[in-house]
Amino acid sequence: MPLPDSFMQDLKARNDIVDVVSSYVALKKRGRNYVGLCPFHNEKTPSFNLYPENGSFFCFGCETGGDVITFIRKIENLDYMEAVRFLAQRAGIAVPETGFDDGLSKTRARILEINREAAKFYHQTLNSPAGESGLAYLQKRGLSERTIRHFGLGFAPAERFALVDHLRSLRYSPEDMIAANVAVRTRSGGAMDRFFSRVMFPIIDLRGNVIAFGGRILTDEKPKYLNTSDTLVFQKSESLFAMNFAKNECAETLILAEGYMDVIALHQAGFQNTVATLGTALTAAQARLMARYTKEVVLCYDSDEAGQRAASRAVPILKSAGLLVKIIAVPGGKDPDEFIRSHPSDGAIRFKKLIESGANDVEYALAKIRLKYNLQSDAGRVNFLREAVPVLAAIENDLERDIYAGRVASETGAEKTTILSQAKTQRRRDQKKREEKSFQKIENALTFVRDDLNPQKHEFFRAANAEEELIAYLFSNPDRAGELSEKLPPDGFCTDFNRRIYSMILQKAAETTAASLSLSDFGENLSPAEQSAVAGILAKKSDVPHTREDVEECIRVLRFENQKKKTRNLENVGSEDFQEYLEMLRKNKA
Ligand code: UTP
Ligand code: MN
Repeated sequence: MPLPDSFMQDLKARNDIVDVVSSYVALKKRGRNYVGLCPFHNEKTPSFNLYPENGSFFCFGCETGGDVITFIRKIENLDYMEAVRFLAQRAGIAVPETGFDDGLSKTRARILEINREAAKFYHQTLNSPAGESGLAYLQKRGLSERTIRHFGLGFAPAERFALVDHLRSLRYSPEDMIAANVAVRTRSGGAMDRFFSRVMFPIIDLRGNVIAFGGRILTDEKPKYLNTSDTLVFQKSESLFAMNFAKNECAETLILAEGYMDVIALHQAGFQNTVATLGTALTAAQARLMARYTKEVVLCYDSDEAGQRAASRAVPILKSAGLLVKIIAVPGGKDPDEFIRSHPSDGAIRFKKLIESGANDVEYALAKIRLKYNLQSDAGRVNFLREAVPVLAAIENDLERDIYAGRVASETGAEKTTILSQAKTQRRRDQKKREEKSFQKIENALTFVRDDLNPQKHEFFRAANAEEELIAYLFSNPDRAGELSEKLPPDGFCTDFNRRIYSMILQKAAETTAASLSLSDFGENLSPAEQSAVAGILAKKSDVPHTREDVEECIRVLRFENQKKKTRNLENVGSEDFQEYLEMLRKNKA
């Protein structure tokens, strides 16, 4: 059962899409609309558009769009009901209790409960005789009681059903335990603990929910760490360990380390602005999450080769999210945890110094190239220059570029002005390439090469275009719905998807007295993907002013195309098909 209309009206009225979106995206006004950098993909030039008039947003880069509820769903990673609750809370209004079927959000809620109970159970076990070995291990690694409590660390006992039995006593079903991935299905169909004989690290989201676990084995067995697989409440590639703590401490700088133990050791040493990915390479989503809380990221990966390679891969991802990047290498081939522990009296001070002296990514990149070549030889200097110029070219700030060009000049004996002009040429080339790429994207978006939701668009391109104009027109002129539906009933549409949208709009328009329709009027009648598609239609037609003549022209086109479609259908029934058809009739009779 849907939520009452009056509530939805209120919810939308009190959550102005411009207000809501601007707390996530820096918006610039452009005419009646707004533009900004899309929060759903990485970009340098804004293709995210906001249309207050019909309450929709659309990104021409990644083709994500929808209304204010869809926006919250996507950016906060919530389902429909949760997003409604989120917005209701933001506006300070109560969500009416209805028989609304939110099965999925109920399962999510149960998974979160199970995770919380599991975390409690593991933590209690750590402090019980069954957890002795785990506690001893963590102590040996230098963690204080306070740190253990702060992170809610725990121990999964050796038995295979310890947690499952405990959760069952709390009346959770094996299905839900498996959905939470704290249990796995046995061959006989029951549930068995996923983690045993491991110290447990709960992963907590920004709202304080336990969403997953990492578990470390105490021996040299493999895998060293076992992590929760993705569940309804957990996406590994979008979460960061300890971001729940770091988010309050990282306005200036966030330290990104590689492992659970590094994060915990650094927090204990006073660096509460440290986070880590969960054993996977850094993703753009994680970089964007960081960018919401900080300006600069200090990359502090292991100083082994794998760590350094991971660090140089992370740099462009962080930069694309608009972050400043510094890289530090912990001396002596150590990871940060080992570094802190190997200097028991002044580890924190030394680490702080390290961060302060941390090379930024330009220095780092140049240093890496420098290592490859012998700068004493002419050939070495030429090769070094050849690779250094693109690094210089990528520097946005002129002054900064000038400084590094000077450094490269003195290292190689080449003229600084020559190096700089090379870099500028390269910049222009890069810029051109980027522009071509983004232009191509917009062009693709505009010419609908492929449309998953409306596959017929390809076949009835001209009709689909006219249909979309009418849809966009009706959004801003709902008062003309009656007249339009007489001239062109939904039957007159050629493509099924647009026809469905058209019918829905005609119906909504008949019910409303508002001057224009809003995308959120259609609420749950549209899936998120369909919302994106409709937002796309509105966005692509937003700069086209529609006159009555335009509308008449669209109707003419549609009548014509529809007629063509009908005759084509008849022609297509060839004589062979017809024979087959008769044959079938005969058989059915017999
Ligand atoms: P590390 O092996 O560097 O972890 O792997 P660490 O935290 O320093 O572990 P200790 O000090 O040996 O206890 C880095 C991260 O990669 C993931 C974990 O998130 C780990 O913290 N990882 C590593 C796994 O997910 N599975 C593994 O088997 C190993
Ligand atoms: Mn380590």
